[in-house]
Amino acid sequence: MMMNRLKAALGAVTVGLLAGTSLAHAQGTDEDLIKQGEYVARLGDCVACHTALNGQKFAGGLSIKTPIGTIYSTNITPDPTYGIGTYTLQDFDAAVRHGVKKDGSTLYPAMPYPSFARMTQADIKALYAYFMHGVAPVAQKNHDADITWPLSMRWPLAIWRSVFAPTPKDFTPAPGTDADIARGEYLVTGAGHCGACHTPRGLGMQEKALDASGGADFLAGGDVIDNWIAPSLRNDPVVGIGRWSEDDLYQFLKSGRTDHTAVFGGMADVVGWSTQYFTDADLHAMAKYLKALPPVPPVRGDYTYDASTAQTLDSGSVAGNPGAKVYVEQCSACHRNDGGGVARMFPPLAGNPVVVTDNPTSVAHIIVAGGVLPPTNWAPSAVAMPAYKRFLSDQQIADVVNFIRSAWGNKAPANVTAADIQKLRLDNAPLPTAGWADATSQTATWGLFMPQPYGSGWTFAPQTHVGVDAAQ
Ligand code: HEC
Ligand code: HEC
Ligand code: HEC
Repeated sequence: MMMNRLKAALGAVTVGLLAGTSLAHAQGTDEDLIKQGEYVARLGDCVACHTALNGQKFAGGLSIKTPIGTIYSTNITPDPTYGIGTYTLQDFDAAVRHGVKKDGSTLYPAMPYPSFARMTQADIKALYAYFMHGVAPVAQKNHDADITWPLSMRWPLAIWRSVFAPTPKDFTPAPGTDADIARGEYLVTGAGHCGACHTPRGLGMQEKALDASGGADFLAGGDVIDNWIAPSLRNDPVVGIGRWSEDDLYQFLKSGRTDHTAVFGGMADVVGWSTQYFTDADLHAMAKYLKALPPVPPVRGDYTYDASTAQTLDSGSVAGNPGAKVYVEQCSACHRNDGGGVARMFPPLAGNPVVVTDNPTSVAHIIVAGGVLPPTNWAPSAVAMPAYKRFLSDQQIADVVNFIRSAWGNKAPANVTAADIQKLRLDNAPLPTAGWADATSQTATWGLFMPQPYGSGWTFAPQTHVGVDAAQ
């Protein structure tokens, strides 16, 4: 008893002096708890949002655009003045699962606490141990939000929270659920917060469904975030992962590439900082869960490869088709005339769901800005796609986007204009969303007027690290 108290007191002193310097200073089972917490932090990808571009790990300061101004993620290192060093386990839980700051005010739901609400208390406890003892403190002041009063007042967020955020409760699978699928569900809907990007938002900016009980909206494809679109993760054969195998999903989440696709945009942060570190068992569990989701009615029928595009391109008769001409001159060296690409190097564009999303922002963005397929521990080569804003006019980019969206049997409207590209090129602003809705698609929600406490069109768009912080 005495000994324990002494140990606790010594522990407190050690923490005070050496906070975060090394895991080795923690004792016995605590070390296991800290290690476990480090893994849970990977599951939740805390580092992606809580690290500024080129910034110090977990010290906050990443800018997140909203329609009323910019907010910044906060310092979650154990620094007692600027970080969360004075947080008790209860304070920490209140922030992570309930969305309530230590001063009692509500966090912006840019922090995905509606998903974290289903994390288990055991995981939260481990996470807390890691942030208190496994993370180095950084004395970096938080950046105030660039939002002017009265919009800066936080009380409407508390109302939002009471209406839309679930009451935190340890995840329990439905009785009889396969153990792997249950684990997959916990990871996808809880710590992994996949729906924060992949589920469409409703009128109140809330995710329309937090799990499969919410029907076809769950993971049906999200809105624009930092000019990227997260496509559907449902088993739709054209716009979703219906033609992916469980093993494709496993490979993609582990290495960022499969024979038919390559990770880019916001998902590159997810793979680079989070899923590549998951255990194989956890990756397989998520893949199994996603493939086992209830079927959704296919929104654009099935995908059938159309060989006539390749024949036209091979014959060189593209004079009357400006998009095809750009494609042959600029793109086919890597993505090939047949749209098939080169496995694990240059992703195919034929039948690729990310090419045919309702809203073309992502496809246009990667052609304007280029992309670096991030090296992961499991696929260490970085392969790049050039940024075409330097070589092509707005009209040429619009033409080639429209071309690939309807070539090789791809079924997406050819609806991008030079003006859309110019916006993307000039100020990196999201493309306007009006006018692109595909009435037959269930994911066409982004054009709606969204009544918010703060006005319409609310989104949270954290900056993407892709290509900036590859080493972290
Ligand atoms: C999608 C981005 C995102 C992810 C992922 C994320 N956070 Fe946050 N978090 C934020 C933002 C933004 C804030 C500040 C919100 C505000 O100011 O209202 C925040 C606030 C917090 C706070 C409150 C700090 C304070 O000042 O009271 C804690 C604690 C926290 N996050 C911990 C975590 C942990 C632990 C994880 C991983 C399990 C995590 N966050 C993942 C965006 C994120
Ligand atoms: C920060 C936003 C964000 C989060 C969080 C996120 N994704 Fe993504 N995801 C994207 C974007 C953007 C794309 C499109 C780019 C690409 O295909 O790499 C994407 C693409 C994908 C794809 C490829 C789909 C296709 O048709 O090519 C899969 C599979 C995927 N995500 C799974 C997941 C899983 C599982 C999670 C949760 C662990 C997750 N994502 C969390 C943004 C996100
Ligand atoms: C030098 C080879 C190369 C050339 C030329 C090239 N690309 Fe790419 N492309 C890539 C690579 C590599 C990726 C994966 C990038 C990433 O993951 O960030 C990619 C990704 C894409 C994607 C996203 C698909 C996915 O699943 O990741 C689209 C769309 C695309 N390219 C279209 C084009 C178009 C249109 C052109 C011509 C204007 C073009 N590319 C020229 C190499 C190339």
